[in-house]
Amino acid sequence: MAEVTIYEGALDKGLEGVVACTTAVSFIVGNTLNYRGYTIEDLVAHSNFEEVIFLLWNNRLPSAVELEKIKSDLNKNMTLDSEYVSALKTLPTDVHPMTWLRTAVSLMAHWDKDANDNSTEANMRKAIRLVAKMGSIVCAFEAIRNKREILNPVAGKSIAWNFMRMLKGTEPDPELVNVMDTCLILHADHELNCSAFATRVTASSLSDMHSAIVSAIGALKGPLHGGANEQVMVMLAKIGTMDKAQQFVKDALNAKEKVMGIGHRVYKDGDPRAAILRKFSKTLTAKIGKPELYEMSVLIDETMNKEKGLMPNVDFYSATVYHSMGIPTDIFTPIFAVSRVAGWIAHANEQYEKNRIYRPRGKWQGPEGLSWKPVEDR
Ligand code: COA
Repeated sequence: MAEVTIYEGALDKGLEGVVACTTAVSFIVGNTLNYRGYTIEDLVAHSNFEEVIFLLWNNRLPSAVELEKIKSDLNKNMTLDSEYVSALKTLPTDVHPMTWLRTAVSLMAHWDKDANDNSTEANMRKAIRLVAKMGSIVCAFEAIRNKREILNPVAGKSIAWNFMRMLKGTEPDPELVNVMDTCLILHADHELNCSAFATRVTASSLSDMHSAIVSAIGALKGPLHGGANEQVMVMLAKIGTMDKAQQFVKDALNAKEKVMGIGHRVYKDGDPRAAILRKFSKTLTAKIGKPELYEMSVLIDETMNKEKGLMPNVDFYSATVYHSMGIPTDIFTPIFAVSRVAGWIAHANEQYEKNRIYRPRGKWQGPEGLSWKPVEDR
């Protein structure tokens, strides 16, 4: 019988240090994040979200014709069908938007003619629809709960531009569209994070693309993953003023509570995405006349570093960036999903291409040899 190796060191440690698969989608070296071999700094400086989507799905940059095609395909697929919108309107909106988004993406499959077709061609068609519609769905939620009309996307405009317009209902500021585009690039993928792993686990049973993405949304929602950006804003509001920030951090550490947006399993010398977002946070909080939000964030950042040697992750400064853009706090994590769905799809496709079902072992720690007793004898 073939021997099975059990890596005891990973037990109950969140699989820290465990290599679960090979991947060519994105990788982290030191404090550098690369998508398909390109650093995020390079992509942020020269690319746009649509091009990054092509890169993640095709393992190369597009030609001019290919770039125009993916932009046009995404744009054409942003509109939500009327029957689907009618179904969405039956869902209560007094829930967290991530709860609503998870259901809404699951519902998409009911109208998707490729839903159960796992061929490469069908998966690429679903991929376009999923990425194109994710932002429209989040904006539909915001419109429905505010009893506003659901706006249709404008042809020839990017995902970032349309997202900003459909969310607010007004023509977006070009500077903020650029910031949103950068945020979408920065959040698009991140190696084997919790939600990408959830995507791959579901895909590994050869379940369909919508199921894999719904699993990912569920994983992203948690406060230890994508839900942290919202919690950072909640924390800043709770602290209130600069003079209380240091004490807040010390009290949290003494109480063994997590300071949201700080720390990372992989980056120990700082998250490169946080460095980019920090600059936006400074400019944009000043622009809306609330520089103290940035200053308070810096103080928390420095105090955590001094007290615990921990640094901010992607969620820390994105909170004040989104807040300064006038985005409701509970929409922060859904924005993460609007971007990360591109990476989830790349991971699902990579999993389908070289699949073996994920089936780890658990180490038994319960009682053994028990015998059933009739209910009256228990
Ligand atoms: N605030 C306070 N202490 C923190 C901390 C934080 N944000 N992040 C880590 N720590 C501490 C832990 O308490 C632990 O301390 P100890 O060794 O004295 O017990 C140590 O640092 C290791 O933390 P651990 O939770 O084991 O790290 P992890 O690799 O399992 O978790 C995160 C990584 C990101 C989940 C964790 O840093 C965290 O919960 N951060 C806040 C949530 C967040 O921002 N999530 C978004 C991630 S992108």
